Amino acid sequence: MRVVAGLLLLLLGLCGSGAQGEAGGLGEVAEINQNTDPKHPAEESTQQSMKQTACDVWMELRALRDMVVEQKVHMELLQRENSDLQTRLSSSESELLISKSRIDQLERENAEKPKVAFYAALTDARTLGPYNTDITLKYSKVFTNIGKAYNPSTGFFTAPVKGVYNLQFTVMGYDAGVISVQVYKNNQRIMYNWERNENDSVPEYFTKSLVLELTAGDEIHLVLPSGHSIFDDSNNYSTFSGSLLFTL
Ligand SMILES: *[C@@H]1O[C@H](CO)[C@@H](O)[C@H](O)[C@H]1NC(C)=O
Ligand SMILES: *[C@@H]1O[C@H](CO)[C@@H](O)[C@H](O)[C@H]1NC(C)=O
Repeated sequence: MRVVAGLLLLLLGLCGSGAQGEAGGLGEVAEINQNTDPKHPAEESTQQSMKQTACDVWMELRALRDMVVEQKVHMELLQRENSDLQTRLSSSESELLISKSRIDQLERENAEKPKVAFYAALTDARTLGPYNTDITLKYSKVFTNIGKAYNPSTGFFTAPVKGVYNLQFTVMGYDAGVISVQVYKNNQRIMYNWERNENDSVPEYFTKSLVLELTAGDEIHLVLPSGHSIFDDSNNYSTFSGSLLFTL
């Protein structure tokens, strides 16, 4: 910048009074060139045209300098905008990384969460009972058994994890007298139900559900008490189902 300013001053000197008005504060330098002796006309004219050229160059340079200054301001503005953009970009990048790791964590948790749900119908053998002892009902027609917590060959559901479980069963009676099912938890009865099938040609139903807090290894099974009966055939009337609501 200093070199350019020096060059401008020199040219201004050559340019003379014609540029004084525009030169402003640089006017004094221009004065130095004024007090020269009178010249020969030819010399005068050459000097005049040189003066004119210098003046033109000076004007050009001044315009160029103005342009450079303007470009510099513009560039500084662009640099500021660029650094603002970079700041914003890097903050959104880190936000994105945070969301991604949160999603990964949720996916992991979801994948690790045990999935337990079963649903089975009793039998195709029509009326079971009455027998003279209690028997464990083995719901053998398995529709759903996610997590394999229900065992159709024993009729037992075993909680794989500590949690709250929803259990439900539907009992159908037909040509049956008294229909009944009891719920056992770890070989201890926790629920008794019965219903009289008043008219042999009209089926009876009841449905019950339980919400139980179980620890891992707790077993649930359904029992047909002695003297009572239950009915099922290929229509899947009598069913037993359960699922894990949430772990504890
Ligand atoms: C049983 O139900 C059928 C059909 O509704 C009816 O015709 C019959 O009379 C009923 N029997 C008795 C014993 O109530
Ligand atoms: C009962 O379930 C079995 C599968 O165990 C299925 O094939 C059958 O169609 C079902 N019965 C009816 C009436 O939907």
